[in-house]
Formats: sequence, C-alpha cells, structure tokens
Amino acid sequence: MENEKGESSGTFKMGNSAQERSLPYVPDCYAVPPSYEPRDALDSNSEIVPTIDISRLKGSYDERRGVIQELRSACQLYGFFQIVNHGINQNILDDALAVAYSFFELPVREKKKFMSNDVYAPVRYTTSIKDGLDKIQFWRIFLKHYAHPLHRWIHLWPQNPPEYREKMGKFCEEVRSVSLEIMGAITESLGLGRDYLSSRLDKNGMQVMAVNCYPPCPDPTTALGLPPHSDYSCITILLQNLTGLEIFDLSAHGGSGRWVLVPEVKGVLKVHIGDHVEVLSNGLYKSVIHKVTLNEEKTRISLASLHSLGIDDKMSVPYQLVNDENPARYRESSFNDFLDFLVKNDISQGERFIDTLRIKD
Ligand code: OGA
Ligand code: NI
Repeated sequence: MENEKGESSGTFKMGNSAQERSLPYVPDCYAVPPSYEPRDALDSNSEIVPTIDISRLKGSYDERRGVIQELRSACQLYGFFQIVNHGINQNILDDALAVAYSFFELPVREKKKFMSNDVYAPVRYTTSIKDGLDKIQFWRIFLKHYAHPLHRWIHLWPQNPPEYREKMGKFCEEVRSVSLEIMGAITESLGLGRDYLSSRLDKNGMQVMAVNCYPPCPDPTTALGLPPHSDYSCITILLQNLTGLEIFDLSAHGGSGRWVLVPEVKGVLKVHIGDHVEVLSNGLYKSVIHKVTLNEEKTRISLASLHSLGIDDKMSVPYQLVNDENPARYRESSFNDFLDFLVKNDISQGERFIDTLRIKD
C-alpha cells in the first residue's frame, strides 16, 4: 500500500525505518490510537513524583526506617520514584549518555553489525519494539545488551565509539550496585528482610541495558517513542537527557488515572517498579505503566537498566506474604518466560506480561 508521498504505509526494512532516515513526516504505521495520548502530558503535575534521598539507607537505624517508609508508599501509590544522593558521580552519568549518543550517530553500516530481531540475543540493535512485526511502529532506535556479570558480556558490546565499553561499563557497574541497595530496601519494606533476594541476585542476577534513542519526530501528536507498558524486571533504573518519560498515576481522578510527565533534573535517576516486584509483593506494589512521548526538535537519549533474577530463576509470591485470606495472586515466572511472551505477543496492542501471571479467583 502506498500513500500520497509514495512511501509504503506498511513497515520498513530493518535499518531503514522512518526515524533512522529522519523522514520529514510520520508514516501511517506509526499512528497510535488516541487513547494512548501522544503529545506531552497536559496534566503535567510533576510535583507528585516522589523523590527519595537514598544515602539515608546507609545512615542510622531511624534514617533507614524513614527511607523504607517513603519507598513503601511510593511503590504502593505509583510504582515509581526518583532517587537523589545515589552516590554515582555526575561524570559517569554524563559520559554514559554521551557515548550512547555517539553510538547512534555512527553510520548505519556500523550499527548494522548488531542488528537483530532475535529477542533472545544478548546484544542487539533494532528499532521500535519488534521492528516490522508489531502492528504499530514506534519512533525509537535502541541497542540492548546484557551487562552483568560484565566480564561475560562486555566483549560482545560495540567497540565503536572506542570508549563505549569503558564508559557504559562503568555506568552499568555503578547502577547495578545501586539496584542491589534498592532491592534490599524493597524486600525489607515488605517485611521479608533486606537479604531476602541478595544471594540470588548476587549469584546470577540479570542486568539488561536498553540504550534508547528517540530522534526528533516531525509530528509528536501522532506517534510515540514507546507505547504504554510495564517492564518485566524487578526494578528498572533510568537515566535520561530530556523529558519524555510519562508515568500513569492509577489513583488520580477517582481511579480513572492520568498521565504524569516525569521532570528532568540533572543527576536524578528514575526507578520503575517492574512486574517481578509486583509478583514479589503479591500485588501490593504495582508495576508502573509508562510511555515515551516525542520531541520535535531534540534527540532524546535514555539508558534503562533492567534488573531481575537469573535468566531461568523464577520469581514467585513469598510464602510469608500468603495466608488463607490473602492467597497468592500470581504464578511464578522468569526472565526467560518474559522473552517467550515477547515473541508471541504484541506490546503495541497493550498486551502485558503481568496479566498472563495473574491467578483468577
Ligand atoms: C524501556 C522504557 C523509557 C525511556 O526501555 O522499557 O520504558 O524513557 N524506556 O526510554
Ligand atoms: Ni519500560
């Protein structure tokens, strides 16, 4: 099918997407349903986004208790919070964003070395979500790579730009250590103790980096960078150079919810509760639904670090949180189960992994 501009309105070949070619218009296959609310959140009440000073996790008993309380309430209300005083040097954050930007600036032939639509590949470059396969396409280019243990994966990462491995590797290591601290606080906040998952996370925990690039989009009112979705992970820690991330506040407007634009403040990291912490908490903490809106002028870069148990290690509802009145509400699942789900389902159509885990009463 051809539109009036002579372009196919179907999907593009990999490496040839509209966003990679900087097309001056948005082809039909990128148009999202109005219910996805592209454009910036009109209701951008960003003051509701909780911000937590996590340096206090290492403080006195009372300070730690205070953070755990804040964390618990943010996880219950939004499944999302921002962290400050996380201890990662600003240079490390800036360098990681810069080296990601330089990677996306490379000629297509260089990036093509990593091109793959195989969701099981430990390193892959592609566009949208499953390029060309999903019903709707998204204005995103990304590189996904495993990051922990670093020595096992880093030799598969891009060597161009030459400092990519060093700069991104440093960022990944630092973020992973913050993730372990936060996971300890999360399990503690659920009454499971701070070491409930530590040995499993230490031994074979996964870290997947989604290095995302959202080029300027000629019409941010019709397309999105990513559709409303939640992450499969336990938690995702995100760094961005510009606004564009929006979270869905379920509790607003008497339960009908609203989109909230996450503000960008230098040095602040964002933490998403993922599906596997929703399971871990037996539904007390909600995995946050989020999406990415687009910018007409600027290129947005985000680094999303997804932390979970080992590839085949199943997350299940802890027996400590279950009793006769409060039965387990989710079945167990692993990262690999999520990948199987991703192959068979279309996230652009609103299908969610967590929905496949719910045990119906
Ligand atoms: C993701 C994601 C948000 C962003 O990669 O899963 O939600 O801001 N990214 O890029
Ligand atoms: Ni996400």
